[in-house]
Amino acid sequence: MDSGLEDVVAAETALSDVRGDIGELIIKGWYVEKLAATMAYEDVTHLLWQSSFEDLPTIQELGNRLGDARAQAFDKLPNTDATIDIIQYLRMGWAAQQDDESLETAVKLASSGLVFTAAAVRCAKGLAPIKPDSSLSSSADFLRMITGTAPHADKARALDAYLVTICDHGLNASTFAARVVSSTRAGLTSAVLGGVSALKGPLHGGAPGPVLDMFDDIGEVGNAEVWIDAALARGDRLMGFGHRVYRARDPRADSLKAAAGRLAGTAGRIAFAEHIEREVLGKLRRKYPNRPLETNVEFYTAILLEALEIPREAFTSVFACGRVLGWIAHAREQISEGRIVRPKSVYRGPVPELEGAN
Ligand code: ACO
Repeated sequence: MDSGLEDVVAAETALSDVRGDIGELIIKGWYVEKLAATMAYEDVTHLLWQSSFEDLPTIQELGNRLGDARAQAFDKLPNTDATIDIIQYLRMGWAAQQDDESLETAVKLASSGLVFTAAAVRCAKGLAPIKPDSSLSSSADFLRMITGTAPHADKARALDAYLVTICDHGLNASTFAARVVSSTRAGLTSAVLGGVSALKGPLHGGAPGPVLDMFDDIGEVGNAEVWIDAALARGDRLMGFGHRVYRARDPRADSLKAAAGRLAGTAGRIAFAEHIEREVLGKLRRKYPNRPLETNVEFYTAILLEALEIPREAFTSVFACGRVLGWIAHAREQISEGRIVRPKSVYRGPVPELEGAN
């Protein structure tokens, strides 16, 4: 019995390889750092889905279809009030999509995630959602739909770097959830809903917002040591640190730190984050000398998304907008396996008494 399934191999995949012991991540034959530095969202969508759909068009055509699907998604925004949780809004929007295993559904899911997330951000601020502009790239349009103005190319590039960095990551909890759902042949929309529901938990994709909450609480570098000691003494998990698979530094952390560093005005925030990071790592090493706990992807995600003026309440939804590409590719891969996922459990409950026994 292995309740966290850490030693269980439950799938063969051609999508990504998480080399936790040496801190490497390979996605479809590319190191993640190289992918993040060179590819846009549309490129990585094409790369990930190449072996998933026989009818996948060229990158250019796929980009056009993603743009058109954003425009269509805007006509199907969920009704809501300003108090709704952003990830809940995204789930509502996705839940209303057609549910089958086609490329058309995959394109709708990928595009609409950005539209629903941007609309939810606007609604939460009491502002009207902004119509997509299908002539822009997915990242540029997303930032425009949030802020109301077309972003500087550096910002769109930084968001591309983020979405590419987090597009896939082996059999993480949300991807496994998506694969389990797809193995029942429920459809890609159902698989994506399974994925996003697993992602929203604070131990998975819900961490980067709380990273900023931690920064706010610490306030200034002089408070860091006392704050961290108190948190660890309470038994709190420090958000942005530790990982089930990585025993070395998560390579995505540096990829995102570099992307944040390329944006104007981030130097001070990065220096503050580096100070907190050094303090936390030192203290985690002392508390858990036999368990390497390093910086994970969420730590510098927080800095990057903050610099892009994305509110922290939306961070998990933006994560879902990148990871949806991986969920879909894994769902299709699982379908091609043709077997329902159905592990066993060990029964520890009561047994019926034998009739006649006293
Ligand atoms: N802060 C403080 N203590 C920690 C942390 C942390 N961030 N991470 C692990 N520990 C402690 C655990 O409490 C455990 O202590 P115990 O033996 O006294 O119970 C010990 O270190 C070993 O824990 P692991 O076995 O390494 O943790 P596990 O693999 O079960 O969990 C997880 C991994 C959930 C990511 C954990 O490190 C964590 O909660 N981190 C904070 C949340 C976070 O940043 N999540 C994002 C992860 S990346 C992603 O999902 C996209």
